[in-house]
Amino acid sequence: MNKRYSIISDWEIAESSYLPEENLYFESIFTLGNGYMAARGTPDEGFGGDSIPGFYVAGVFDHYEDGLFELVSQPSLFSCRIFIDGNELSLRAGIVRNYSRSLNMKAGTLTRSFEWEFSGLKTFVEMVRFISLDNVHLAAAKYKLKPLNYHGKIEIVSYLDKTVGNLDWGKKGTFELSPARHYHFDIIDEGFSGSGEFYLNTRTKTSGLETAQAVSAFLYPENEIIPDFKRIKNGSEIGNALSFTARKGREYCFEKKAAVFTSRDPGINCPREAARQLLTSLNGKSFDELLKNQVDAWSKKWAISDIRIAGNPDDQVAVRFNIFHLIQADAENDPLVSIGGRLPGSEVFNGGVFWDTDVFVLPFFIYTNPTAAKNLLLYRYNTLAKAREKAEKHWLKGAMYPWTAVYDGREQCAFWEYANIEVHLNADIAYSVRHYYEISGDEKFLANEGLEILIETARFWESRFFYDKEADCYSLILVQGPDEYTGPVNNDTYTLIMAKLNLRAAIETIELCQNRHPAAWRMLKTKLAFDEKEIKAWDKIIRNAYSDYYDPKTKIYIQDEVFLKRIPIDPFSIKVPDKMLRFTMPSYDTLLRYQIVKQPSIILLMYLLADNFSLQEKLANWNYYEPKTIHDSSLSYNTHSIMASELGFKEKAYDYFLRTAYLDLNKSRDTDLGLHSACIGGTWQAIINGFAGMRLRNGRLDFSPSVPETWQSFSFQISYRGKIFKFDIGKEMIKLRSLNCESEAEISVYGHPVHLVKDKEHVCKCRS
Ligand code: BGC
Repeated sequence: MNKRYSIISDWEIAESSYLPEENLYFESIFTLGNGYMAARGTPDEGFGGDSIPGFYVAGVFDHYEDGLFELVSQPSLFSCRIFIDGNELSLRAGIVRNYSRSLNMKAGTLTRSFEWEFSGLKTFVEMVRFISLDNVHLAAAKYKLKPLNYHGKIEIVSYLDKTVGNLDWGKKGTFELSPARHYHFDIIDEGFSGSGEFYLNTRTKTSGLETAQAVSAFLYPENEIIPDFKRIKNGSEIGNALSFTARKGREYCFEKKAAVFTSRDPGINCPREAARQLLTSLNGKSFDELLKNQVDAWSKKWAISDIRIAGNPDDQVAVRFNIFHLIQADAENDPLVSIGGRLPGSEVFNGGVFWDTDVFVLPFFIYTNPTAAKNLLLYRYNTLAKAREKAEKHWLKGAMYPWTAVYDGREQCAFWEYANIEVHLNADIAYSVRHYYEISGDEKFLANEGLEILIETARFWESRFFYDKEADCYSLILVQGPDEYTGPVNNDTYTLIMAKLNLRAAIETIELCQNRHPAAWRMLKTKLAFDEKEIKAWDKIIRNAYSDYYDPKTKIYIQDEVFLKRIPIDPFSIKVPDKMLRFTMPSYDTLLRYQIVKQPSIILLMYLLADNFSLQEKLANWNYYEPKTIHDSSLSYNTHSIMASELGFKEKAYDYFLRTAYLDLNKSRDTDLGLHSACIGGTWQAIINGFAGMRLRNGRLDFSPSVPETWQSFSFQISYRGKIFKFDIGKEMIKLRSLNCESEAEISVYGHPVHLVKDKEHVCKCRS
């Protein structure tokens, strides 16, 4: 596979030669963000057709048709036009030399630099930007321009584009972009303040959310020139233009600072005022000073989140790429937004949130940033109202979470087989609540918000299970498991076992709270009109649920009631390269007649509930399901990598790891339109749960590490119940350290508890 990007350093990747046909891809992989806002790596001066301007603010959704909402495409803070002696700078015209667009993941900056020749005039251009992790409302850019062979006029126009709209991304189920646009905001105020400042205040048409953007753009005083200054205000843009006569060989520096606030922000009455005030407070602060804060903020994040790999620079960069996008996707302090299936810099799925976040992305935060993890779960808590509405609409009880959640947690998915019957999501959320609690020890959350989620989802399952008199058991009729290529089935094993776990988690957590948090429990009980009889009903379902899914002879957990009746086939024999089977089979029902697995279901179950299955069972099910799995979902590879690690299939584990870690970097899917959050989160798990073999067992984090062949060693940190543990895993030795306190055997290696003294290295031998 030809790599499209180049590696500049352990922390930097680049588009090193100008590849216009790959612009969309680079825009996606070079997306910058801070959880509050996100900007694709679109050239500041625009790029014409093969480009998505892509600037988004978390939580700002608007309605577009038939009850559907989408994340609003907003005016980009970075938009500019540059004129050199009257000619507009455009990479599509003239000659481009020494081109580079590079992402620095240590600093969170995107830098473009090139020499542009037009009509014989050569100019060196460098543009650096960042979206601040230090102050989430802030973004900044700095340009350097140098006439190489002429004296002449340079004009820099900075503007906010009032005409941007959302693209009609394949709502018919395909991943094609159509240029049709939906326009989502009205201008409610715009104007100028200060010398080089302009602002735009918009309000979304139906959701009524205000966004205010204020930009200050100026030439550096060090340039020692006073540029001509013009304000621009017309139907399509607001901004300003600076022009000056540039002298050959001199470098001119220009800077832009931009502030964004919305009416969603807590404590903000007037977003426009807040944006302008922020800019005022930054008067006199240079781009470089702000950049220093940005680098500091990133270095704090990296201190706990980085995974260092010795011996394989390519993998080092790829892993950092995935972690970088996880960190910058998360609105750490906003419990009313979550991370969409295609991360915050994409319009795909309209910005909607899937189980991808709870099962594949959340673990990274649970172990590296518990505050962020809690906020992702609080998003589920804060959207319970919509989940309750959905349950009621379907004649069910409790909370039925949306398959694709947008805005305030409403269902966005237009396909009934996902929206209405792929209900495992409810149990996945319950699983994640417990997972977060076990690792963070946050009992306050568990006793309050967590328990409410557990009870409401348990109620959902109680109403969803059907008592089958004839078989004398509780069944789940018409559900769809994670493997969407088997469609609607009865008693999908994954859903069934996870639902039972949800019911059990609710019962156990109620008991815990009755004993340890009686006041909180009394309040919740009243709030939810909880009846003790519910516990009996749940218990009855747990004990009498359908269980005819296990074949003791072969040790196979059969995926669902009809799986064995489907026609066996080698799915790769009918695979059309680079196409999903769903779209190349004559029809969906043709696909459903075969034993073809889109993404792991039983294998995922065996990873998530590691202790519920023996190694022999895991092996038997791996041998059975892996050859049937076509991996038509980006969620598939990471789970396979983890399970292959557990089973000791080192080569396969590494091969699947590569497929997940490089999925977006190598554009193995529709990366052009946005990155794949589950596979990005899954990359972290493939290393920590896969190569390092981390599992929670009997209240301890157990590690069974093994270093991939092409690596010498790897190291990482984990936060567990407030303690930070550092691991250096080599081929011979494992070095462990507790960074902030004594550890009384919270950790075990190959099942043996390890006692750690603060800051003292503990060394154990690797098994293989
Ligand atoms: C997968 C789902 C996933 C969704 C969003 C689908 O292709 O099958 O499991 O939640 O994409 O990423």
